[in-house]
Amino acid sequence: MSFSQDEKKQAAAEAACKFVLNDTIVGVGTGSTVNYFIDALASIKHKIKGAVSSSEASTKRLKAHGIEVFDLNEVDSLDIYVDGADEITEHKHMIKGGGAALTREKIVSAVAKTFVCIIDDTKQVPILGSFPLPVEVIPLARSYVAREIVKLGGDPEYRMGTVTDNGNHIIDVHNLSIVDPIKLESQLNQIVGVVTNGLFAVRGANIVLIGDESGVTEIN
Ligand code: A5P
Repeated sequence: MSFSQDEKKQAAAEAACKFVLNDTIVGVGTGSTVNYFIDALASIKHKIKGAVSSSEASTKRLKAHGIEVFDLNEVDSLDIYVDGADEITEHKHMIKGGGAALTREKIVSAVAKTFVCIIDDTKQVPILGSFPLPVEVIPLARSYVAREIVKLGGDPEYRMGTVTDNGNHIIDVHNLSIVDPIKLESQLNQIVGVVTNGLFAVRGANIVLIGDESGVTEIN
């Protein structure tokens, strides 16, 4: 029997529920895999206090399930943050932001003790960069940042028509082979006008749940 990509996402998402502790507030990411997690969280909502969300889309889905959504500023710490990824390596370094939610995702994940990454097996890569790297920029700085990215060896493309939840723009960087993601994450952060880049390497995932043909594989 073989599983579809959606079935693999759902399996990984449901497996993440075992990391949700009683009476805690759960950090919730964004995307199609996380949507399955939110749906699964709804079935155990009686045991949690609520959630902190990384996007307007996830907030809407959480509230539709009757899960209370807290402002991150009201919360001292989070036990876990659950989110998907666009690419992930064996070192648990990721590219995220395909859904343009990278900034809030990086903020909420920074507060959490444990980042649980939920993916289907197509997201595993030996080297990051085949998936274009999203960079959130202040609109005024878009062209300047694009020129600086060219100096770093990337091919920037403005994601036309996308405005982030923070009112900013996204540049997708093509043709990178990211051998040192920690270094590139820091270099991109140094460009004036960059709000966040989609490399999650300085702080990667702690636990990866991969939906695959065997069911779910857990990597710690
Ligand atoms: C949202 O901005 C992204 O970081 C998502 O977490 C990532 O794109 C994974 O999304 P899917 O679960 O839809 O593949």
